Amino acid sequence: MRRLEGKSALITGAARGIGRSFAEAYVREGATVAIGDINVEAAEKTAAEIGPAAYAVPLDVTDQASIDAAIHMVEERTGGIDILINNAALFDLAPVVDITRESYDRLFSINVAGTLFTLQAAARSMIRRGKGGKIINMASQAGRRGEPLVAVYCATKAAVISLTQSAGLNLIRHGINVNAIAPGVVDGEHWDGVDALFARYENRPMGEKKRLVGEAVPYGRMGRAEDLTGMAVFLATSEADYIVAQTYNVDGGNWMS
Ligand SMILES: NC(=O)c1ccc[n+]([C@@H]2O[C@H](COP(=O)([O-])OP(=O)(O)OC[C@H]3O[C@@H](n4cnc5c(N)ncnc54)[C@H](O)[C@@H]3O)[C@@H](O)[C@H]2O)c1
Repeated sequence: MRRLEGKSALITGAARGIGRSFAEAYVREGATVAIGDINVEAAEKTAAEIGPAAYAVPLDVTDQASIDAAIHMVEERTGGIDILINNAALFDLAPVVDITRESYDRLFSINVAGTLFTLQAAARSMIRRGKGGKIINMASQAGRRGEPLVAVYCATKAAVISLTQSAGLNLIRHGINVNAIAPGVVDGEHWDGVDALFARYENRPMGEKKRLVGEAVPYGRMGRAEDLTGMAVFLATSEADYIVAQTYNVDGGNWMS
C-alpha cells in the first residue's frame, strides 16, 4: 500500500534539487504535491514532468502575502494541507570580516523567517481543519557546528533546529508533528554553487572542494537527493506520530548526535 495515499503536501523550494526529489517520492507514495517555488517557470516545468499529482504554486517564503496565497491555493485545490516540507533555502559564504548585512538579511529572511512563517501559516490551516499534520523542516549538518567561512548559513540552520524544537513542543497538542532533517553534503546544482564559492575563497580549482567533502563522508561519497527521501516519507506517515521536535541526521555518518 502507498504510504501517503490521499495526503496533500506543500514542499517549498521544490522546483529542483532535494525538494524535487521529495515531491517525486511523495507522489510515488500517493500524495498530491504542491511545488512551491519563487522560480515559477521551473516549478511549472517540474510539476509537469512529475505528472498530474503535482502542481506548481508561486511562492516567495520571504513574503507573507505570498505564503498566505500559497496555503490558500493548496486548501482550494485539495481541501486542506496535511504535510509541509520547509525546504527553500539559500547559501552564502564569506570570511567573518567580509560578511555583509545584505547577505545576512537575505539568508535569515529565507532560511529562518521563511521557515517560521510558512510553518505558522500551515499550522494555522491544519488547526482550523482539526486533522493534525506533519511539518518537516530542512536543517543541515551546518546547524550542528560552525564553519570558518560559513557563519551566517550555519547560524540560520542552527536556528531551524531550535525552531523545530519549540514549534514541535508547541504544536503537538494539535496533533501536528514538527521534525527536521539535517543532511550532510548533497550533490546537485546547489553544491555546484557552493563549490564555486569555496574555489574563490580558498583559492582552489573548481570541483576540488566537492571531491574533498565527498571523500570525507564516512559512507564514502556525497549524498544524493534520493538518499533523503526515505526519511522525508517516514516523517510524514502515521508511523512517525510519536516523534516530536527532533532533527535527524541523514548524512552518511558525518555527524553524531
Ligand atoms: N545540498 C546540500 O548539500 C544540502 C546540505 C544540507 C542541507 N541542505 C538543505 O536542503 C534544502 C534543499 O537544498 P537544495 O540543495 O535542494 O537547494 P537548491 O538551491 O537546489 O534548491 C532551493 C530551491 O529553493 C528555491 N527558493 C529560493 N528562494 C526561495 C524563496 N524565497 N521562496 C521560495 N523558494 C525559494 C529555489 O528557487 C530552488 O528551487 C535547503 O534547505 C538546504 O539548506 C542542502
